[in-house]
Amino acid sequence: MRLTILGGGGFRVPLVYRALLGDRGEGRVTDVTLYDLDASRLTTIGKVLADQAVGHPDAPGVTLTTDLDEAVTGADFVFSAIRVGGLAGRAADERIALEEGVLGQETVGAGGISYGLRTIPVALEIARRIAALAPDAWVINFTNPAGMVTEAMTALLGDRVIGICDSPVGLGRRVAGALGVDPARTSLDYVGLNHLGWLCGLYADGRDLLPSLFADEAALTSFEEGKLFGADLLRTLGALPNEYLHYYYFHRESVGTARAAEHTRGAFLHTQQQRFYDSLDSAGGGPTAPRAAWNAWDATRLERETTYMAENRDAVGMGERDSCDLESGGYEQVALALMRAIARDERTTLILNVRGRGRIPALDDDAVIEVPCHVDANGARPIAGAPLPDHGQGLVCAVKAVERAVIHAATTAERAHAVKALTIHPLIDSYTVAKRLLDAYQRHFPELAYLGR
Ligand code: G6P
Ligand code: MN
Repeated sequence: MRLTILGGGGFRVPLVYRALLGDRGEGRVTDVTLYDLDASRLTTIGKVLADQAVGHPDAPGVTLTTDLDEAVTGADFVFSAIRVGGLAGRAADERIALEEGVLGQETVGAGGISYGLRTIPVALEIARRIAALAPDAWVINFTNPAGMVTEAMTALLGDRVIGICDSPVGLGRRVAGALGVDPARTSLDYVGLNHLGWLCGLYADGRDLLPSLFADEAALTSFEEGKLFGADLLRTLGALPNEYLHYYYFHRESVGTARAAEHTRGAFLHTQQQRFYDSLDSAGGGPTAPRAAWNAWDATRLERETTYMAENRDAVGMGERDSCDLESGGYEQVALALMRAIARDERTTLILNVRGRGRIPALDDDAVIEVPCHVDANGARPIAGAPLPDHGQGLVCAVKAVERAVIHAATTAERAHAVKALTIHPLIDSYTVAKRLLDAYQRHFPELAYLGR
């Protein structure tokens, strides 16, 4: 079983490899190919993995390459975890948006549109190479903005590309914790788009426990999303929103605190990451130096994750993120669970980004949505569940139209559709601003030259 990781020089790769080392099951991954444009990061991460493998006689073999065709040929699974423009690009997405007074988050609003416009052409080229060289491979897309990137790739890969996110299952786990039930015994009824969905039911032994959560003020405000949105709003919504909906329901506060903040999330992560790779470069000699540096970096995870969505928490005066809210299950866990279910034909249920096939009646069958799916050797298919909450209908349709405009612009290079995406986004309030934003993004990012002037 051969797994290829695109973005293989990324700092989360050792987490994936650690999980693979612990897998003794049948059909486990035997070969890992790391692909990255940055040869130096690739070498560094390769050294970390080599050191992790010490003492594991049957550790998966590791191949490093900067050649995409070589990377995907013969792959059974491809994890796509790329970041076009790097974290410096993410920071620029945020800064340029905030200069116009709008949000620049990597998946929401202007930032998500800019990031999508530069990522989709690259994702499509990857999809083309996979379709040609590994047509039977399954592609698991981690790359943000995951909803629109996954949908763009379905045009070439159909249902063989599946998008993942750990935020819905993280929400489910926190709610189960607040209710004092074992998350493993619950099933989640969740519906929406990536970073734009609602938990509409949490079942244990066939009974929906959300009504009892809504009735218990203390429990309802004991976890991240409960604190972020507040009991009154949650009760009137009648569902628990994904934490990214804070950018919509507290739009003005989010912009205000983001503009007042010392640095954006992307800038914070960029500085940290820079320090990590520098420490590896200067670690020099000893064969275990890269791993020691990675361990030191991994130890800063708490710091990184407590500052995650910090502006949102500031906006509602909520303070620090609870350390018990941090255990999200992680991307790598969702990705590996998905890969195992497909590879071993072990039927399971996961919340994934797939073509909806009518699961949300307001959207067409090909629209990629984020819902619980049955997974087995045939892939992932949405299962029946709660309808979108009434208040979510308009928002989901509007944001799907934005995603489609971005995909259209990225595939045809029609600049007007990029302006359209920015104009119709619910969090951008003017066509004039939309035009200025695209100009500013194009001035900054050479990757956007394809859209012309
Ligand atoms: C959450 C989101 C992901 C995001 C991740 C890391 O899990 O669902 O889409 O990539 O956090 O966010 P960060 O701000 O730390 O890069
Ligand atoms: Mn996500």
